Amino acid sequence: MVKLIFENAQGSRQIVDARVGDNIMFTAVSNGIAEVVGECGGAAMCATCHVYLSPELAEIADPKQEIETEMLDCAAAEVTDFSRLGCQVQITAEMEGMVVHLPESQV
Ligand code: FES
Repeated sequence: MVKLIFENAQGSRQIVDARVGDNIMFTAVSNGIAEVVGECGGAAMCATCHVYLSPELAEIADPKQEIETEMLDCAAAEVTDFSRLGCQVQITAEMEGMVVHLPESQV
């Protein structure tokens, strides 16, 4: 388990226990993070799991695949260089204590 910090658009933080090997969307939804929906269940088909990785997290996360970049075009909130589909980012032990920023809304 590692600690992941979810920070909402207002700056409120929630620290959750995340299992190595799970993805960010699953971890957020299982911990009641309302800003992450995960409508398609993690198939990279909905973009309702859009999150912004902190720079240090973005540096160690698996690179974005083309399908993810395409699906992010459908995200409701602004897409930045740090935007990812939470379902496509696997949690690793190196992510201990890192921050995931949440968009204001997924709709
Ligand atoms: S849960 Fe649908 S794209 Fe991630």
